[in-house]
Amino acid sequence: MAQNGTTENGVPSDPAALPLPQPCKISEIKHTKIFINNEWHCSVKGKTFPTFNPATGGKICEVEEADKADVDKAVEAAKAAMKRGSPWRRMDVSSRGRLLHKLADLLERDRTVLATMESMDSGKPFLQSFFIDLDGSIKTLRYYAGWADKIHGKTMPVDDNFMCFTKHEPVGVCGAIIPWNFPLLMFMWKIAPALCCGNAVVIKPAEQTPLTALHIGALIKEAGFPPGVVNIVPGFGPTAGAAIASHMGIDKVAFTGSVEVGQLIKEAAAKSNLKRVTLELGGKNPCIVFADSDLQLAVQEAQKGAFYNQGQCCTAASRVFVEERVYDEFVRLSVESAKKIVAGDPMDPRTSHGPQINQQQFEKILELVESGKREGAKLECGGHAVQDKGLFIQPTIFSDVKDHMRLAKEEIFGPVQCIMKFKSQEEAIERANSTHYGLAAAVFTRSVDRAMSVSSALEAGTVWVNCYNALHAQAPFGGYKMSGNGRELGEYALAEYTEVKAVTIKLTEQLTV
Ligand code: NAI
Ligand code: MG
Repeated sequence: MAQNGTTENGVPSDPAALPLPQPCKISEIKHTKIFINNEWHCSVKGKTFPTFNPATGGKICEVEEADKADVDKAVEAAKAAMKRGSPWRRMDVSSRGRLLHKLADLLERDRTVLATMESMDSGKPFLQSFFIDLDGSIKTLRYYAGWADKIHGKTMPVDDNFMCFTKHEPVGVCGAIIPWNFPLLMFMWKIAPALCCGNAVVIKPAEQTPLTALHIGALIKEAGFPPGVVNIVPGFGPTAGAAIASHMGIDKVAFTGSVEVGQLIKEAAAKSNLKRVTLELGGKNPCIVFADSDLQLAVQEAQKGAFYNQGQCCTAASRVFVEERVYDEFVRLSVESAKKIVAGDPMDPRTSHGPQINQQQFEKILELVESGKREGAKLECGGHAVQDKGLFIQPTIFSDVKDHMRLAKEEIFGPVQCIMKFKSQEEAIERANSTHYGLAAAVFTRSVDRAMSVSSALEAGTVWVNCYNALHAQAPFGGYKMSGNGRELGEYALAEYTEVKAVTIKLTEQLTV
């Protein structure tokens, strides 16, 4: 995701990093099959599905379609990899870390291919894939590589007759179901903590964007992970995804996607084997701009929050609350800046705005834009598809958005910024919190006191102060309320991928101090 030190193109602001990388020619996609046991498999039913380039609408290739029977095979492979005495179970913990570092090295080696493929499959501007998605993926792997040999238990003083300690053991076979907005990054957010804790993984990429996940399959094998440790099952949600959620052989499932599917997954987990569930769902993230803030900075960051990745971010800043005194100026500067955004071919380094992922999302976004016009919000710029450009939507700004409007309540997942006015700090906090979501929030102010009190009052798993989308592998990420359960990234994620075992030894001789 967008990080500090980069322009909106995802290009490092440090000119020493120039010349810019260029996408490569990919004449043929090598890996299109199901990855189980470090081998490539055709689907049991003999089915395939197409994946498209959203920028052109053209089909890239057919991919083998995993269904329940293929998920069963993948789970068997993962269970075998987790069996007592297996190479993965016996591997010393620092070697686990070395494998994760090796995988990160291979991502660095294949960075251009991966960034090109990610852009082709998802429509992301190439430079954003290259700098932001790849950077985040590599850093996530290296961060968890470092944890592999530092997952400690504790000793508990009980009484002199006992020795009592804990061990943090892998949970077992971990399922993962990921979305299309950050295909590679979400893959790493799931597998890196799972593997550093010694689990095996069965992961389903989104049906819209299976390609980089499959390329990573080849790299996992090349890095030297034992067979069955990571299995990749490209396929659809109601078939392969549902098979993971309800599988009796899967011990935990991690999901990123919509609230509706998150609810189905939790239900399937409850009705099958009560597998552990972590969910990273949507958001309707408030971004509060106080009159004492650096207004230029607030405009730029709020805009990055609204339009980055074509607004297809769970963290999208889709409700911007601006203090009355600077409201008109904020709107004026935002419109001026939005009009400069260049939409176009994602492979062109000048492009910072690509297409939406598919027709369904494109229509959903335009329908919400129409609802805004109907409900009386003021359209300041954009509001339409980019002419003759398939799935491209103009960066759109609405002012005078009211809390009751659909624009202010529903996750838009498109390039639409909704700007609202507030009078007092208390009012801003109340309105920011009046949603079922609680993923991220931002505050812009020059006052440290205000930054502290508002960030404490906001009901969100992440609060950014004077920045937006500043995500780091070291910091936990996840939602309050209906934005999800559990945390990804950071040390906190280790708890999601480990079982704690208490071992109590009765001593024959009393410990004497
Ligand atoms: P989705 O929740 O249907 O898809 C996400 C993943 O879940 C995909 O891998 C999909 O195959 C899988 N899935 C779908 N149905 C499933 C089922 N019954 N059981 C198990 N897995 C299943 O999201 P979709 O349809 O792609 O987008 C709809 C909306 O969801 C978006 O407009 C956006 O509001 C939200 N969304 C949120 C994301 C986030 O980052 N939190 C990412 C993608 C979508
Ligand atoms: Mg695609």
